Amino acid sequence: MAKVLPFSEESLTFCAKALNSDSLVAFPTETVYGLGANALSEKAAEKIFSAKGRPKSDPLIVHISFMRQAESLTNMSEFQRQCFDILGSKFWPGPLTIIVKASKIIPKIITANGDSIALRIPANKVAQELLKQANIPVAAPSANRFGHVSPTTAKHVFDDLSDFDDLFILDHSENCSIGIESTVIKIFEENKITLLRPGAISSLQIKNELNREKINYNFEILQRVVKAEDLEKNSNVAMDSPGQLLTHYAPTIEAFIILNRDKSDNVGQMFSKEYLNSTVIIDFKQKNASLMKSSLKYFDLSSQGDFDEASRNLFSYLRNAEKTEGAKYILLPDLIEQNNEKSIGVFDRIYRAASGKYINLI
Ligand code: TXA
Ligand code: MG
Repeated sequence: MAKVLPFSEESLTFCAKALNSDSLVAFPTETVYGLGANALSEKAAEKIFSAKGRPKSDPLIVHISFMRQAESLTNMSEFQRQCFDILGSKFWPGPLTIIVKASKIIPKIITANGDSIALRIPANKVAQELLKQANIPVAAPSANRFGHVSPTTAKHVFDDLSDFDDLFILDHSENCSIGIESTVIKIFEENKITLLRPGAISSLQIKNELNREKINYNFEILQRVVKAEDLEKNSNVAMDSPGQLLTHYAPTIEAFIILNRDKSDNVGQMFSKEYLNSTVIIDFKQKNASLMKSSLKYFDLSSQGDFDEASRNLFSYLRNAEKTEGAKYILLPDLIEQNNEKSIGVFDRIYRAASGKYINLI
């Protein structure tokens, strides 16, 4: 069974050693809890896939503690190097993952047989100290069962992965202040940058930095959503858009988005108000507060409409909702706001939690 270790200097040192012995260590970052393993050991990385039940076609993010550590792990083109230096210096440590060409020392299991590697320097102090003491690059996906809601507390990790024996969970109360996973961008060898996953750092912030340095680039946002079955079957689909699964960050009970009435182009299924007594409402800015009394449970991601607060709360509310006795459904808010970059990352998780399903209340 996995062991939870309350934070102390000793437990941190113990975990750093455990990583060097190819055990798994779950640790807090400023985004979500990561499930860490020595990124230079195939044997250690194997354990991540078996603990999570993750398909091998989905590559891992490698966490490092300072930018020079990227040298031996990458083999960058000039364009990649320029962008990497600009964005890394500006946004690291922080919630940005940068994908560039991998060097030969990276085990194939980390890159899912591809030729690129995802790198990130996390900002959380515990994560930084762990990486420093371990003194190795650490591969770490979010520490949840594959497809489930990402964890923002040590308890969430234990709930999902307790069955795995060779796992230590470092429990620190001051954990995931952002609450959703990092922004992921891929820098191609020439000229092109693609946003693969939205997060706390917006595409506007990224573009601003590159423009300031007069870099010539094309920026695109990957819009494609992939079904899990296709990812299993076809590794080509996996290579340009892993992590773009339609059903992802999904609770164990069915979730829907309450259709925004001003949207006429999107038709939702009908959802009868009779079901509200077995429904948990997760709201935003009290939009659906009128449903509070008739529902089983009611949360507001941010009653004042603050997207940072909403992002911090989303995953723990989803986990709380699915565990609520008698709960059969979760209704989520349609909170995308035009021209508001901060709403994009949070709504991306809501959309995937609901597998893109909208409803009209009748
Ligand atoms: O905030 C985060 O990024 C957290 C913390 C622990 O750092 N980690 C995280 O990892 O969210 P994970 O594995 O759950 O999500 C990483 C995403 C996946 O969608 C994966 O497919 C994509 O990044 N990815 C990783 N390496 C890639 C590569 N070489 N090419 C394309 N996508 C890649
Ligand atoms: Mg994940």
